[in-house]
Amino acid sequence: MTGALYDAFARQIRYLRVSITDRCNLRCIYCMPEEGIPLMRHEDILRFEEIRRLVEIAIGLGITRVRLTGGEPLARRGVVELVRMLAALPGLEDLALTTNGTLLAPLAEDLARAGLRRVNISLDTLRPERYRAITRRGELSDALAGIEAAQRAGLDPIKINMVVMRAINDDEVTDLARLSLERGWHVRFIEYMPLGREPALARERFVSMQEVRARLEETLGPLEPAHVEGSGPARTWRLAGAPPMAGTIGFISALSEHFCATCNRLRLSADGRLFPCLFSDVELDVRTPLRRGADDEALRQVFRQAVAAKGPGHQLDRYVTTTSHTMSRIGG
Ligand code: GTP
Ligand code: 5AD
Ligand code: SF4
Repeated sequence: MTGALYDAFARQIRYLRVSITDRCNLRCIYCMPEEGIPLMRHEDILRFEEIRRLVEIAIGLGITRVRLTGGEPLARRGVVELVRMLAALPGLEDLALTTNGTLLAPLAEDLARAGLRRVNISLDTLRPERYRAITRRGELSDALAGIEAAQRAGLDPIKINMVVMRAINDDEVTDLARLSLERGWHVRFIEYMPLGREPALARERFVSMQEVRARLEETLGPLEPAHVEGSGPARTWRLAGAPPMAGTIGFISALSEHFCATCNRLRLSADGRLFPCLFSDVELDVRTPLRRGADDEALRQVFRQAVAAKGPGHQLDRYVTTTSHTMSRIGG
C-alpha cells in the first residue's frame, strides 16, 4: 500500500462509490425530473480501463470496498465485464452494486459469476400502481424478479432501500419490514434527502427515522441491535424474537441524526470527478490528468486532495442545500 487516506478529522476513507453512468431507465420522483437531466457527453464518461486504473490507485491508498452506482449501473453496456475486471484486483475485499433492480433478473447470475458479492436494491412500495407513480416508468414485477434472481444467484446479503415519503408510501413501512422476516432481506428505511431539483418536495414529504421506528415497534414489536455486513451509514436492528434466518432492519437518517462523524467514503462520478461529500459542490477532476498520462503518484495526489477537502459534515438541518448535482449524477 502506498499510504492511507485520512481526512482532516482523522476519519479513514476505505469505501469508494463509483458511479458508472448518469443514465437511468426510471425517473424516481425523489431523484430526477420527469424529462430527465442533461446527460454527460459520451466521450467524457470513463472507459472501463480508466475505471480500473483509478480503482487500483484507490486500493493502493487503502480503499478496500467498492460500490458501483449510477444512474442505473445496469443500464451501462458491458457492466458484467467491468465487474470481472474489478473483482480481479488484489486488495479489494468487497465489491457491491446499488440498483433499481428492474434490469437485474437477466444479469444476476452473470454478475455473481463475474465476482460481484452483493446488491442493494431500491423498493419503495409493494403496490404496482404506486411503483409506477413513484418511478414514473417502472414495473414492480421487474424489480421483484430482479431481487429474486439476485437471491437465487447467491448475492448476499440482499439489501432493500426504501425512501420513506409522507402520504406517498409511509403507510407501507410495516409491510416492507415484514419482508425481513418472510424473505430474509435486509430492509433499510431512508430519510428523504433534499437533493436534486425539488428540495421543497423533500421538506413536505420528509419522515424521520424516529417516526418510522416508532411505527415498526408498534406494529411488529421491539427492535434489538444487530449487525449486517456493510460499509454505509445504516444503523442496524432486528425484530426481537425473529428467526435466525431473518434479515435486519436498517435506518439511514441523513438529516435527523446524521452520520457524518463516521463518514468513510469518497465518490467518483461517471465522468471522472472525485466528490468529497454528497452535499458539497467541491469536486476534483481526475479524468484530465488520467487522460494526459499522469503517473500513479500524480493520480494518488488527486485522491489525497479530495480527501483533504472533506468537511466535518453537512449543514442540512434547515433542509436547504446548495448542491446543484442530482442523485443520479453522483450515485447517492
Ligand atoms: P452498504 O452499507 O455497504 O451496504 O451500502 P450503502 O448503504 O452505503 O449503499 P446504498 O447505495 O444502498 O445507499 C443507501 C442510502 O444511503 C442511499 O440513499 C445513499 O444516498 C445514502 N448514502 C450513502 N452514503 C451516504 C453519505 O455519505 N451521506 C449521505 N447523506 N447519504 C449517504
Ligand atoms: N433521498 C434519499 N435517498 C435517495 N436515493 C435517491 N434519491 C434519494 C433522496 N433524495 C436513494 C435511492 C437508491 C440510492 C442510490 O439512493 O433510493 O436506493
Ligand atoms: Fe434512477 Fe435510482 Fe434515480 Fe430512481 S433513484 S431515477 S432508479 S438513479
